[in-house]
Amino acid sequence: AGNRTFTMIKPDAVEKNYIGGILKMINDAGFKIVAMKYTQLSKEKAGAFYEVHKERPFYGELVEYMSSGPIVAAILEKDNAVEDFRTLIGATNPAEAAEGTIRKIYAESIAANAVHGSDSDENAKIEGNFHFTAEEIIG
Ligand code: CMP
Repeated sequence: AGNRTFTMIKPDAVEKNYIGGILKMINDAGFKIVAMKYTQLSKEKAGAFYEVHKERPFYGELVEYMSSGPIVAAILEKDNAVEDFRTLIGATNPAEAAEGTIRKIYAESIAANAVHGSDSDENAKIEGNFHFTAEEIIG
């Protein structure tokens, strides 16, 4: 039981074969995987996913990058999932991420920062439903 968050292992981390290491850290931190897929986002889909950042100067780069290669998308379950996952992944900019966090270990830059994590319960639901149908979520 518990509540849920949504994550993506981004193209840089998939490319470098970090999927296994990142999933191990996620499992070791007590998160249960309730949905997961290996996929590649079209530009359209990446653009829609990051719609909230549309006016940001990095939006174009973000969409280009997120559609540049395969990703792993997953819904994770744990008590206090959103906040605990953000603690596990560390700051958006890996240069500012705490020791032992996923981004400190696996990320290379603010754009190629290895993983995404939802920033609220509401967004976790929206983002999870963006990538998964009800039948693909097995709690
Ligand atoms: P994410 O948590 O997936 O949500 C939005 C993403 O935008 C963020 O991770 C970063 O990878 C990216 N991002 C944030 N700030 C910048 C920036 N200044 N330049 C490029 N990408 C950024």
